[in-house]
Amino acid sequence: MSNWKLLYNDIPKGLKSYDQESLLTLGNGYIGWRGAPLLSRYDENHYPGLYAAGLFNQTITPIAGRQVVNEDMVNLPNPQLVKIFVDGEPIAFDPVERSAELNFKNGRLIEKYRFNSKKGSLSLETIKAVDPIHFHSFGYRLKLKSGFDAKIDIEAIIDGTVQNKNVKRYRDFQSREFTIIGRQENILMAKTIASKIEIRVGAIDKSGQSKFSESFSENKLFSKTAFDLKAGQEYSFDRVISVATSYECPDPEKIVEDDLSALSFQKILDNSENYWDQVWQNNDIKLDTQIPDLQKMIRMNIFHLNQAAQPQANKNLDASVGSRALTGEGYRGHIFWDEIFLIPYYSANRPETAKAILKYRIKRLKAAKENAAQEKERGAMYPWQSAMYGDEQAQLIHLNPVDNSWDPDNSRLQRHVSLAIFYDLWFYTHVTKDFSLLDQGGLEMLIEISRFWLNKAEYDPKDQRYHIAGVMGPDEFHEAYPKADRGGLKDNAYTNLMAAWIFSKIIELKNSYGKIFDQIAKKIDFTVEDLDKIDKISKNIALDISDDSVIAQFDKYFDLKELDFQQYIKKYGDIHRIDRLLKAENKSPDQYQVAKQADTLMLIYNLGVTETQKLIEQLGYHLAKDWLKKNYDYYLKRTVHGSTTSRPVFAEIALKIGNKKSAIDNLVTAIKSDYDDIQGGTTAEGIHIGVMGETIKLLQNEFAGIDLRNDVLKIDPKIPTIFRSMAFGLKYQGAALKFIFTPESTDIVSDKNIKIKFKDTYLDLKADKRWHSSLIKQKI
Ligand code: BGC
Repeated sequence: MSNWKLLYNDIPKGLKSYDQESLLTLGNGYIGWRGAPLLSRYDENHYPGLYAAGLFNQTITPIAGRQVVNEDMVNLPNPQLVKIFVDGEPIAFDPVERSAELNFKNGRLIEKYRFNSKKGSLSLETIKAVDPIHFHSFGYRLKLKSGFDAKIDIEAIIDGTVQNKNVKRYRDFQSREFTIIGRQENILMAKTIASKIEIRVGAIDKSGQSKFSESFSENKLFSKTAFDLKAGQEYSFDRVISVATSYECPDPEKIVEDDLSALSFQKILDNSENYWDQVWQNNDIKLDTQIPDLQKMIRMNIFHLNQAAQPQANKNLDASVGSRALTGEGYRGHIFWDEIFLIPYYSANRPETAKAILKYRIKRLKAAKENAAQEKERGAMYPWQSAMYGDEQAQLIHLNPVDNSWDPDNSRLQRHVSLAIFYDLWFYTHVTKDFSLLDQGGLEMLIEISRFWLNKAEYDPKDQRYHIAGVMGPDEFHEAYPKADRGGLKDNAYTNLMAAWIFSKIIELKNSYGKIFDQIAKKIDFTVEDLDKIDKISKNIALDISDDSVIAQFDKYFDLKELDFQQYIKKYGDIHRIDRLLKAENKSPDQYQVAKQADTLMLIYNLGVTETQKLIEQLGYHLAKDWLKKNYDYYLKRTVHGSTTSRPVFAEIALKIGNKKSAIDNLVTAIKSDYDDIQGGTTAEGIHIGVMGETIKLLQNEFAGIDLRNDVLKIDPKIPTIFRSMAFGLKYQGAALKFIFTPESTDIVSDKNIKIKFKDTYLDLKADKRWHSSLIKQKI
């Protein structure tokens, strides 16, 4: 059972407590409800946060002579605040005992506290759950027991005074996101200040043992009750909460009113249990291993992935998943290229969820074209950080707190975000064979993204190659060339090769979509000449490859200085943010061969070894036989994993070059990224949903070796002996498959006839007939 529960028994303080609250978040794709105790308020130890997918607001803060605009995911009025008074004295939230248990099996969070008061001890239990069906709603049950006779007063409050305060370094910025505009029975009415979204937060007490009366003061809606509690007796009440906004529905008030009157907390519990039952039936990964916590962490990651977005809520929501999902305010809730770590997982495990998220990008095609036009580019230039409207939300400059100066922030030059968006839609369409998104604006989006890149590529007659300049790769430590007065780098290998890859896919789409492609191309003036140029670029884009087959991260990368990593480790211990350490020494990571995360190697993560090699050789470059190992060794030595997304990529390649131990070590570290808070304090600002998706992909697509990217499903398992068995299901092109792997064998059942390639052998599997790998020997 412990493999199904996230359990804490300590009484954490500070960031450690924030961190647990992020991991204890409950959600349903629409709501994210941080796991802070009911009796807590925002302070150094607790942060009750509540978010609705897609809802943002812009603020302006005058700082150091500038007006800084930020778009924040809105922390909504807090409907879970509870105050308890014993004989007229408020209980301070200072428990002497505590346990918190998040049960992945049914989506319940149970917290138990014991408090000491002058007269004796009091125990409090709360159960929380969100409703995945009536996704605007969630609730809690509160149980109170006293060791002595007491007169109890309870106030259950919807607190409209909250602001966005989760992230310490943002607290100097304007963080009031909404104003309270009124109240109704059981409902607090608010409106975001700049985006003007109407918010309704309602709560009602159900099946309580005492009567509640309502009052309103200082932007708080109170439900108060009083009763006598005898020693040893238990008192309990349920509270059903509902949130709706004008962002996702025309009449939020009605949704809240209806849910408050129709739902009971028991119903929410039941709906939650049924939803998770379905998830675990279809999407569990059962791993038999002695590696401590690994099975539990796999389930925790699957749990978060399936509450960050889910088919019921997201189907009609205009929202994607931000880098911290709906669990905290890190990166202000923005949406990055990190979708590339989620869409492959969702496509094969929860295709409806993948589809819902992809629509967010298609809807922002117009904004992406405007972004491009503003920067004198063409086509669709998706922003590095996206929020409500799809305009660029990355800052242009940032304040250096050391000397109060403004430094340029070039992160927006990570134009590769649009390559990820292209890849995501291609991946979904390929794995599901659902072409409907292409017809609903998707194909146009892919063409406009291609137009952006074809316009960025410039031909140089000197080397007769195309070059792309002024961009940053995924490795964010390199923003510019040393001493350059402009940001950006030339010929980032990841960007150039992904551009070549999207070009090859656009040509494939043109061939398979013939008439429809031509109609759209005509409508948006994408010409035959454009297609010709695409073809030329895809065959002649420039890379810099050493004689030793190491692919330079970008042009002139090999000219950068080497860093003495050992010396920095000796000096500072932890160097995962070597960029900051270097800057503090008046140096810049731009000067060194040092990487925050996998950059060039991400190509293999996206495309696989064979496709990457094919692309490179198609460009006329030669690669030695052991090029993969050489690149892995070269970049591993220079990478500090300053982003959680880095390790799974190295794990994947380690596995491919036969280094299972290193693959497992990286998998284990990555899968516990948030549990162990490996980036030192960032989980407090929300979980890292990207790495959660990556680690599940690593298990399914690399350890189990199920490659979904080809015309035939390829299976080449690399199960280490430490995994005694691994079982899960996947969907591929309309078939639902179930697998059981052991280090020696593979079992597959498909619900449809399907052709697969197992290692080197093509096989026709018959529907519902179990195939076992020993059969392959008989066949040969
Ligand atoms: C990573 C980016 C990522 C962002 C949001 C950064 O630390 O370097 O690749 O997109 O976090 O998760």
